Amino acid sequence: MELGIKGEAALVVGASEGIGYESAKALLEEGAEVLICSRNAGKLKRAAQQLEQASGREVRWFAADVTRANDVVQLKEWLGREAPRLDILVTAVGGSHRAFFEELDDAAWLANYEFNLLGTVRVVRATLDSLKQSYAGGRIVILGAAGARMPYEHQVVSNVHKAGLIALVKTLGAEFQKYNIRVNSVSPGRTLTSLWTTRAEKLARERGVTPEEIIGEFSHEIPMKRFGRPEEIAAMVVFLASHKASYVTCQSILVDGGIAKGLL
Ligand SMILES: NC(=O)c1ccc[n+]([C@@H]2O[C@H](COP(=O)([O-])OP(=O)(O)OC[C@H]3O[C@@H](n4cnc5c(N)ncnc54)[C@H](OP(=O)(O)O)[C@@H]3O)[C@@H](O)[C@H]2O)c1
Repeated sequence: MELGIKGEAALVVGASEGIGYESAKALLEEGAEVLICSRNAGKLKRAAQQLEQASGREVRWFAADVTRANDVVQLKEWLGREAPRLDILVTAVGGSHRAFFEELDDAAWLANYEFNLLGTVRVVRATLDSLKQSYAGGRIVILGAAGARMPYEHQVVSNVHKAGLIALVKTLGAEFQKYNIRVNSVSPGRTLTSLWTTRAEKLARERGVTPEEIIGEFSHEIPMKRFGRPEEIAAMVVFLASHKASYVTCQSILVDGGIAKGLL
């Protein structure tokens, strides 16, 4: 399928590993010019080198922590120099926080708010001027979570903030139509990235079992009986970022092996 994004400029934030990295890789495979950003400069530089080796094309990078407002201001300045006309923005920063309500104080709520919601808001704000310059109309794809549609037990704070992203996408998709910018979100279910391998290793140590047994246990309630692979999530990201999704906006699409059981 010809996605029509060859030569377009794409920024992926949260791209040094996991779903963001695979999204950057898939965008490169479709011929986009890819710029990447995440927090740790060393990891990001290595990711850029790997992507360059795989694609044979230059991948420019900028380290910024989206929970720090000033970092995102600097990201905007860098983008103004490197890609004043941006076609695609992908944000893949966030994660679940396992804690019961009574374990969470204001500081924990605010930290998670910055990580899962405000960081993305800042990145959208920082890239909007560049996205408005896209000849074909800009596209924003935000990584949400299936947990927003089927709140997981023991994860109240990330359930709430990921649900906020659904509202953000609905609102911005309508508001940005005047700029010809589409806004969508991909909501992954359990996906095998470092987010889960780290969690599985920790739980395995606590319970005296192997990480594989933990992953097996958490796979059980997924109708497809397995975790997603980051490239399977990235495939939907790239589709939504492409011109094949030209009539799709304001949507949050589940890619979750069927785990979210609600009808809507
Ligand atoms: N994996 C899953 O099971 C799953 C399920 C549902 C939803 N999701 C969502 O999918 C998205 C990607 O998840 P993932 O599993 O691919 O995560 P991951 O493997 O942990 O990768 C996260 C990426 O974001 C970067 N990052 C983290 N904090 C950052 C910050 N404050 N500022 C800038 N960059 C930051 C990381 O780089 P550094 O280390 O350099 O910071 C890394 O490149 C997230 O929004 C997550 O909530 C994942």
